[in-house]
Amino acid sequence: MTNHFPNIAIFASGSGSNFQAIADAIAEHRVHANLVLLVCDNPNAFVIERAQKWDVETLILQPKMFQSKADYEQKIADKLREKGVQWIVLAGYMRIIGERLLDLFPNKIINIHPALLPSFPGAHGIKDAFEYGVKVFGVTIHYVDSGIDTGAIIDQEAFKIKPGMCIEDVEIEIHKIEHQLYPKVLQKLLHN
Ligand code: GRF
Repeated sequence: MTNHFPNIAIFASGSGSNFQAIADAIAEHRVHANLVLLVCDNPNAFVIERAQKWDVETLILQPKMFQSKADYEQKIADKLREKGVQWIVLAGYMRIIGERLLDLFPNKIINIHPALLPSFPGAHGIKDAFEYGVKVFGVTIHYVDSGIDTGAIIDQEAFKIKPGMCIEDVEIEIHKIEHQLYPKVLQKLLHN
């Protein structure tokens, strides 16, 4: 890269609509960063196709190919070093980050969660909040620590449910918020 922007890697396991939102924001100069790597633990994830379109190198690794989580993360760490990655951006990455990566990237790993933490952490934030019957939903962006969605909160955005909204409507609204909030927060963090 010939610019002085920080290099970021996105970790994702699924559809990758947040990957897309960040890649779009970089292309439109709303985020000043080089997206140099996608790390994906699911060979069937649609995010891989998105990365191909954007010409972003992809590392597809399944933990089951390794003896331990430390070995799995070491392999990732080697690639991150090779690519000069400075920030890790989790976007639907369905694994807990282990000690190896946490040690190498202190306060440089962030995550987006589709609920207002500390309420409804875990893999089913939207469903859990909907079934609980909350009236205010939202999105949280936070630093990653060794817990499940427990790291320090960086930013949040909320909205009130409207009468008649079903869970699919709530999901659509949450993703809309995610796609504008994640690039905005990322730009601020990278260039405070
Ligand atoms: C998002 O809702 C994000 O908050 C959660 O996982 C989902 C990923 O969606 N962590 P996508 O793969 O970016 O479309």
